[in-house]
Amino acid sequence: MCNPTEHGYDRLAKHYHFFEKLMFGENLTKARVALLDSIPACCSALVLGDGDGRLLEALLSSQPECQITSIDQSERMLDIQQARLSNHPLRNNITWRQQDARELQEFEQPFDLLVSAFFLDCFHLQDLETHLPQWLRTLRPGGHFYFVDFQEPKAGWKRLRAKLYLTAMHQFFRWQTNLPNRNLVDMNRLLNQCGTEILMSQNMNHDLICARLYRTLPKEENQCSKSD
Ligand SMILES: C[S@@+](CC[C@H](N)C(=O)[O-])C[C@H]1O[C@@H](n2cnc3c(N)ncnc32)[C@H](O)[C@@H]1O
Repeated sequence: MCNPTEHGYDRLAKHYHFFEKLMFGENLTKARVALLDSIPACCSALVLGDGDGRLLEALLSSQPECQITSIDQSERMLDIQQARLSNHPLRNNITWRQQDARELQEFEQPFDLLVSAFFLDCFHLQDLETHLPQWLRTLRPGGHFYFVDFQEPKAGWKRLRAKLYLTAMHQFFRWQTNLPNRNLVDMNRLLNQCGTEILMSQNMNHDLICARLYRTLPKEENQCSKSD
């Protein structure tokens, strides 16, 4: 299947950090690593859509025993990830794959950790209903999911402010990358349905951004393991 965002992220890759700084200053940088130190030591991790690799770099340093698979569909983003980590002493712990995350094949072993930062907001509800359970099933039972993303505060001026930011952002990404998604999906609801329990949560930037650490429940309690 042709993914309309594929070439868009290639085009944006070189200037991605610049645009991020322009709009959010250091807020996304801080959010990416907010709960990183709370993740238990892992032997394996799958990182989805890490873009220019700043979280990947931090993860590599905080999890020195971890074998990491980094998947992104943008060749340019992966080039930047590889260039960023070219001198990192643990560089060989990473396997890079250029791939549409919606077309993942089975992995030989389940992962201890799944990571996504500002990635799930690229997808609309139908995509997430189909693929989020599949991505979570790459984890072993009891594995961890580290999630960082935008969210809509429930009410008041924070909600209004968030709506303005999110509308501007979706318009920008639609223009630059043909991003199909126009609205932020309520990830709380989806993740609750997917047999995860929340271990830690931190809201930032007037509740516009959240970082959360989840653990997958054992199979018998996990609805996602029962259906596609
Ligand atoms: C909004 S950027 C976020 C980048 C980074 N995680 C961050 O924290 O800034 C989304 C990233 O996901 C990648 N991406 C989007 N759709 C994808 C898909 N279907 N499969 C794999 N990667 C995808 C893009 O190429 C891009 O690198």
